[in-house]
Amino acid sequence: MQYSVLSQIYDQLMVNVDYEMWASYIESLILEQGPKPQNILELGCGSGNVTEKLLEKGYEVVGIDYSEEMLEIAEEKTEEFGNNIIYIQQDLREIDFEVYEIDTVISANDTFNYMTDIKDIEHVLTYLYPRIKKGGQLVFDISSQYKLEKVLGNNTYGESFDDMVYLWENFYDKEQKLINMEINFFEKSEKEYKRFSETHIQKAYTAEEIKELLQKIGYENIKVYADFEKEEGYNNNSQRIFFSCRK
Ligand SMILES: C[S@@+](CC[C@H](N)C(=O)[O-])C[C@H]1O[C@@H](n2cnc3c(N)ncnc32)[C@H](O)[C@@H]1O
Repeated sequence: MQYSVLSQIYDQLMVNVDYEMWASYIESLILEQGPKPQNILELGCGSGNVTEKLLEKGYEVVGIDYSEEMLEIAEEKTEEFGNNIIYIQQDLREIDFEVYEIDTVISANDTFNYMTDIKDIEHVLTYLYPRIKKGGQLVFDISSQYKLEKVLGNNTYGESFDDMVYLWENFYDKEQKLINMEINFFEKSEKEYKRFSETHIQKAYTAEEIKELLQKIGYENIKVYADFEKEEGYNNNSQRIFFSCRK
């Protein structure tokens, strides 16, 4: 299962990611689309990095993720926020919960790329549509095709820390537009290193196909941004594409 063993090192890998900036960027896209929400549903909340920042900003958050291990870390990280945070362990592809009147839905950092069939993305966003308040916002990102194919592509990454070393090998299939990421990490225990492995698969989607899907479902005022830019737009070298729209 993806994000089972990786959960142990995920926050270490993300240590240089500025989640405060990320959450503020998401917030700015939300507020541009409509009124300030009270509650936010976060899809693929993972270990709670964006969640924590949204809670600090005063929002009530429901976080969904299928990884029990990631959710355990998130719970610990956001314990102090009490009833303002609820976590649900669920596969988004089989999303099923009775919540209506959602103010805002967000998703950060590739969760949608992990749904490798566009029908699954369509299912989630169609399921949520009647559950979002009229005028409520939807904001999420994907890693672009350029990033998956040309930046991560057939590359290998590695890094060593005091007690851990990881090797991250990527294989991109142009025809299927799938990237296969083989992650091996070696963790130091008393006298030896223990090896853990996990395979992650992500799909490359174009901004156009996601936009078309949002339109088909009925979302309105669809805007596309790239790489945390304030101005709308993206180009062939954009790495992270953000979508914002409202019901
Ligand atoms: C790259 S992590 C991002 C986590 C978090 N949003 C962040 O920014 O740190 C992607 C997350 O999506 C979750 N995920 C991927 N596919 C999912 C699915 N079908 N259902 C639920 N969660 C999923 C993974 O478990 C993982 O926690």
